[in-house]
Order: sequence, then C-alpha cells, then structure tokens
Amino acid sequence: MLLDCIAVRDETPTVKTFALRPRETGFSHLPGQAVTLALDIERETLYRTFSIASAPGGETIELTIKRHPQGRATGWLHQVLGPGMTVSASGPIGRFVLDGAGPVAFVSAGSGASPLMAMLRHLAAAAPGTDVAWFHAARDEEEVVFARELTALQRQLPKLSVSVVLSRPGPGWFGYRGRLGRRLLSVAIPDFARRRVYCCGPDGFMQAARLIHAAEGGAKDDFRIEHFGAAPKAPGVPVGETDASTVEVTLGERSFPVAPTETILEAATRRQIVIPCGCASGICGTCRVKIVTGEVTMRHNGGLSPEDEAAGYILACSSRPRTDVTITL
Ligand SMILES: Cc1cc2nc3c(=O)[nH]c(=O)nc-3n(C[C@H](O)[C@H](O)[C@H](O)COP(=O)(O)OP(=O)(O)OC[C@H]3O[C@@H](n4cnc5c(N)ncnc54)[C@H](O)[C@@H]3O)c2cc1C
Ligand code: FES
Repeated sequence: MLLDCIAVRDETPTVKTFALRPRETGFSHLPGQAVTLALDIERETLYRTFSIASAPGGETIELTIKRHPQGRATGWLHQVLGPGMTVSASGPIGRFVLDGAGPVAFVSAGSGASPLMAMLRHLAAAAPGTDVAWFHAARDEEEVVFARELTALQRQLPKLSVSVVLSRPGPGWFGYRGRLGRRLLSVAIPDFARRRVYCCGPDGFMQAARLIHAAEGGAKDDFRIEHFGAAPKAPGVPVGETDASTVEVTLGERSFPVAPTETILEAATRRQIVIPCGCASGICGTCRVKIVTGEVTMRHNGGLSPEDEAAGYILACSSRPRTDVTITL
C-alpha cells in the first residue's frame, strides 16, 4: 500500500508525528496495531515497523517517531519525509490491541506512548467513561510526548489520570522524579493490580512494570506488552561462535553457522547476509523465509499465518535451527 505524507509536526525535540493518507480506500486498524514502512534510502530498502498513534476511522494514520542517534530510518524520516512525498507500507499488523472492558492502566516510556495514544484516542471517541490511569516515563519536561493532548483529553475522559515521571527533571519540576519502581507506581496508580495493563517501552522498563504488577497481585493475563524490537546484532559481532551444538544455515550460495543462542536473522546479520527485517519481534512478517530442508524451533507474535506456517514458511527473527537448515527468500 502507498501512504501519502500530508503533514509533519514536532512533538518533542527528538520526536515527530507524520500524518499519512492511505491511497487505497478501506484501510482500517485496531488501536495498538502497527504498520511496516519500506523505505528506499541510499539505494537500499529498509523495513521499519511503527505503531499507529491515531485512532481507527480517520482519513489519515499518524505515526509518532523518535529519531535514534545514528538511526538510519528515523534519521531519514525526520530529515527528508515531508508533505507531498509517498512511502510504501504493509499492515496493519500486531496483536497488541485494546480489548475487553473495565479499568485499564497504560504504562509507557518515550515513544512507547504511540500505541497507547491510539488506544486512548479510541476510548475518548468510543467509551469516554472508561477509567484510565496513564503512567509515562521520560527524560525531562521537553521529552514528554503528547503532553498538551493528554491534558486536553482529560476533559473528554473524566476518569483519565496521568502521571509523569522524569529521570532528569529541570529545576522547576515538582512532579515524580526517578525511575519506575514499586513505591512510585503504587502512589501513582494505587489500584494498579486491579487494572488491565498495556505497557510499551524499553525491555528493562517493561520487565520492571510486569514484576510490580505481579507482586501487587495482578493477573498474568492482564499484563500486555509491545516490544519495539531489538535490532539484530551488528555485522562482525561474535556470538558464541562455533561449538558442538552450532548448526549451519544455507541461503542460496552462502552457508553460515548459527549458535544455539541465536536466531537465524541474528546469525545472518552477523555475517552481513541480508534477510529483510522490519521488527525483529515476530510481528511484521518481513523476515519470512521458506524452509527447504531441516527443522527449527519458532516462537512468533502473529507475524505468520497458520496457512503460511503449514506451507513451510518461518520467520527468521523468531526461529532457532534444531538441525542444519536450508532456506530460500
Ligand atoms: C511493533 C513495533 C512498533 C514500533 N513503533 C514505534 C513507534 O511508534 N515509534 C518509534 O519511534 N519507533 C517504533 N518502533 C521502533 C522502530 O521500528 C525502529 O526500530 C527504530 O525507530 C529505530 O530505527 P532506525 O532505522 O532509525 O535505527 P537503526 O539504524 O536500526 O539503529 C540505530 C541505533 O539505534 C538502536 N535501536 C534501533 N532500534 C531501537 C529501539 N527500538 N530501541 C532502542 N534502540 C534502538 C540500534 O541498536 C542502533 O544502535 C517500533 C518497533 C516495533 C517492532
Ligand atoms: S522481522 Fe518482523 S517478523 Fe521478523
């Protein structure tokens, strides 16, 4: 699908929101889902997945994107993409979606607020009486995404409470400071364990929130997370190298070893063998390859349909070989 860029706005010094209009009619997503952009940058196609931050049902979709230091795709998006330009995309994808009724807690850090904002905007339109407690972590005042809109949405959602914690607050900040911890969260959201939680941020942050939820007595199934993906290891980084349990993967003319701790995607990237990758989390399906011979153990997050799985496809980012394996792109 093609997306026409309609507008770009600054959210913080490092975060921009891109409003994109699908050329085809009929695009629809669930709050929390994402799209994968295919970006032609310096004669290479880079696939990157971004949550849709806007509520379903609009003419445009909005992506709220943080520029990573040395980030190839986000650097390009921030510097180059503007109104009048078009990008290719696929989706919507992902199982991190708002479901059920009752009180919810949103727990986010940085640009992890994007999928939660889609959920909040949806609730403001469809179920404004919902009891929502949002806990957001940022570095400083300037880096709090959606700050003004969250204040405005409190008028539409009378049961919305927002708590912000800053790790490096300026001198005029009188709110929460420090890092996510059990005491802080129980002050900000006293009934945290009673709520269905949607959490998005760095892995360590999400792990801490999960442990707090469990320690407070929350049910495991009531805690949902969205991974923004760990980038595959850079070329040349040794991982475990060969040992007795290392197996070999063959892709076309090339073969490469895969250590027991590695996925096929990580091992290929380390050898500078390109398998297109959009999320590294088993969500987007970009790294789909077909097994010709051999066996793998695969755990993914919905990026492969049961039909494709039955037809012998696997996701390279979510598969560890059990035997020597031959794959095709
Ligand atoms: C389901 C999903 C939804 C996502 N939604 C959003 C979103 O709404 N907004 C958003 O800004 N990003 C989102 N991301 C992350 C995004 O896809 C990119 O990974 C990220 O923007 C970096 O891309 P890049 O090409 O600029 O960086 P790269 O050139 O790939 O990497 C540059 C540097 O940044 C590091 N890096 C790359 N990705 C991350 C990451 N996720 N966290 C920390 N460090 C990283 C790399 O290790 C490297 O050092 C999402 C990812 C997934 C899987
Ligand atoms: S890269 Fe997205 S599913 Fe593997």
